[in-house]
Amino acid sequence: ILPKYVSIVEVGARDGLQNENQVTTADKVHFINQLSETGLKHIEVGAFVSPKWVPQMADSLSVINQINRISGITYSALTPNVKGFELALQAGADQVAIFGSASEGFSQHNINCSVSESLKRFEPVMELAQQYKIPVRGYLSCVADCPYDGATPPTKVAEVANELINLGCYEISLGDTIGTATPLRIAKMLESVNQHIPINQLAVHFHDTWGQALANIYQALTMGISVIDSSTSGLGGCPYADGASGNVATEDVIYLCHGLGIDTGIDLDKVADAGWNICQQLGKLPSSKASLAIRAR
Ligand code: HMG
Ligand code: MG
Repeated sequence: ILPKYVSIVEVGARDGLQNENQVTTADKVHFINQLSETGLKHIEVGAFVSPKWVPQMADSLSVINQINRISGITYSALTPNVKGFELALQAGADQVAIFGSASEGFSQHNINCSVSESLKRFEPVMELAQQYKIPVRGYLSCVADCPYDGATPPTKVAEVANELINLGCYEISLGDTIGTATPLRIAKMLESVNQHIPINQLAVHFHDTWGQALANIYQALTMGISVIDSSTSGLGGCPYADGASGNVATEDVIYLCHGLGIDTGIDLDKVADAGWNICQQLGKLPSSKASLAIRAR
């Protein structure tokens, strides 16, 4: 059975734009403001990470300060450590996310420490978040394959996801960072994680490098997943996962859900418009098939 309602977490302004060099703060603000008018309820707007590591996100404080915040929408940001959390607090982010990896290689390359060191580093972030009553989402990368270590065993994914829940994350977003998974592998991974964590505390975050993201999302929906991360126009990638392409496109996920009779509360045409605008700034076409089809109508 499929869920009746799916919540989309829009990550285009973060996961998408962290890989683009020519985007001004004003372009980001305009993009997020346009997304705020589409019915989306959760928009990830930036990342308080080291500007030496990801210079594209260095203006996250200005971005949050300049957007028109609509009540009822959660504006969130990534915070890898206490320094990032303090900046997010200063910016007034509604919610933050810590991000870990199910594989050692990606953990080292993305956040410069081992998996167990990262969990230690998240502890003081969680304490502060509790003190300030800021909900924390947990990302877990490489839930199928790691660009450095190869396949990740589903039991390892379950183990680290469980650690993130025990730290106090309200939800774990399971990332197929390099977009190599296919549906049966996703099913095995989800079954393994679901042995410890209820399905309503899990979200999926699929990159579309090998064109499998929608098939994998359908698989997840049939298993009761009702929170999906996606990026308008399929913007995105990861600076520490070579060759990883964008997230699954928000437009394509909305079209899939609505076609299945699942409500999202989001206006597909408005999201597509926001996508065409940001893509124009980037000098590229949307990689969303639904978005291209809308313009060809
Ligand atoms: P480090 O170099 O080990 O950190 O990096 P450090 O604590 O030794 O600090 C080094 C310098 O960075 C210092 O500055 C700190 O002040 C500064 P210096 O004294 O040299 O001038 N610094 C910071 N500045 C601003 N904000 C901060 C911050 N922290 C330290 N929060 C660190 C460790 C985690 C900071 C670094 O590795 C980092 O920023 N990594 C983030 C990488 C990243 O953003 N990756 C992309 C997002 S994750 C992703 O895309 C996957 C996801 O989409 C899910 C999926 O698809 O799988 C979520
Ligand atoms: Mg990602």
